[in-house]
Amino acid sequence: MKTVAVVGAQWGDEGKGKVVDLLAADADVIVRFQGGNNAAHTLVVDDEKFILRLVPAGALHAGKVCVVGNGTVVDPIALMEEVDGLKRRGRLRDDSLLKLSYDAHMVMPYHRAIDHAREARAGSRAIGTTGFGIGPAYEDKMARTGLRFDDLTDFSAFKEKLERNIRDKNLYLKTLLKAKPVNGREILEQMSKVRTRLRRYLCDTAALLHEAVKAGRRILFEGAHGAMLDIDHGTYPYVTSSNCGACAIFGGAGIAPGELEAVLGISKAYTTRVGAGPFPTEIEGKLANMLREEGAEFGSATGRPRRIGWFDAVLARHAIRLNGMWGLALTKLDVLTGIDPLRIGTGYKMRAQSYAEIPPDRRLLAKVKPIYEEMPGWREDITQARSLSDLPANARRYLERIGELCGVRLAIVSVGASREATIVIENPFLA
Ligand code: IMP
Repeated sequence: MKTVAVVGAQWGDEGKGKVVDLLAADADVIVRFQGGNNAAHTLVVDDEKFILRLVPAGALHAGKVCVVGNGTVVDPIALMEEVDGLKRRGRLRDDSLLKLSYDAHMVMPYHRAIDHAREARAGSRAIGTTGFGIGPAYEDKMARTGLRFDDLTDFSAFKEKLERNIRDKNLYLKTLLKAKPVNGREILEQMSKVRTRLRRYLCDTAALLHEAVKAGRRILFEGAHGAMLDIDHGTYPYVTSSNCGACAIFGGAGIAPGELEAVLGISKAYTTRVGAGPFPTEIEGKLANMLREEGAEFGSATGRPRRIGWFDAVLARHAIRLNGMWGLALTKLDVLTGIDPLRIGTGYKMRAQSYAEIPPDRRLLAKVKPIYEEMPGWREDITQARSLSDLPANARRYLERIGELCGVRLAIVSVGASREATIVIENPFLA
């Protein structure tokens, strides 16, 4: 298959970065299509750790075209810092390989200020956002007051729009949110400094992708966050501000429905989430602490400890259905080594009612109790396994049961952080 999407099947942080990096080896073009630097994709290459927030993970392979599509919201300063960081480490040397959509919206310092001030005011109702201004930037996009990268082509018009926005936002910050206003002069100075550099990356990315599809090039779409953080299909309002599934590719990258051939969902062998909101299979106490330490479950974007839970087949089925997933990649199986017994959430119950799917009234997710199936664990080190037959029988049974409960093929299993620590059962680009 030539066009493949990688999307999160849980609440983000499923290990998409590693899988994208792995598949990028077989792709010509790698595309981000939604979200912003609230995403943080961690990759380990030759024992070197990289955290990519805006630049597609293809940047760690030489010669790949990396596209930041129109559906993303991009903090221009954060993007430049990330590019500089990569260049310092010998990556992304060729500027012509990074393509930024003219139509992508900019995240400005006032978006971050509003995000922070709202969360602080919300108290116990806070969403637990990353604080990077993502929600307020998408709000401006929909309100048609946002600044796009194409605005940089006429700097005096850009300046006028920016000044108008700053006036409005400062009024909102001061009077309604009782927060400190942003410094307009500083923002303008920063923008006039990075403008020339940014312009060299600007491109009609939808047209570029159209040509790439026509030419039969292999394209990898790199989703951010996960199905349960989707603005429509997730645990609203404890979600991010974009669609995070494959449906977002058509709007956010500009290829046509029908041009996407396969969706690979990424899920951990257990579950995590950061931020507030329902989490039916959540576990607390000693076991959760152990898994958090073992799996280094601290947010890559914010450093916050992640909440931990058992694998939830109900949520997985929800994500698989929404995305029409061709297959699932299961990550961090090695983190479960030594845990016995293991549990898998197979359904939910509330009083006499049981549910095989998420209850139609999503608010019930905060009240349901999971129905668990127990499975024996394993003690053997599995980090050197490179094929299913290298795994202990109980690990194989655990994977098989997840495949059965989800009704989807397991395509990839990850048993460690590095590129090599992977069992590739089926590569969608070679299928
Ligand atoms: P925002 O995207 O910063 O507005 O945050 C909204 C919610 O999405 C919060 O619960 C965040 O923790 C969560 N979130 C956003 N991006 C990610 C991600 O990449 N991984 C995990 N959680 C995320």
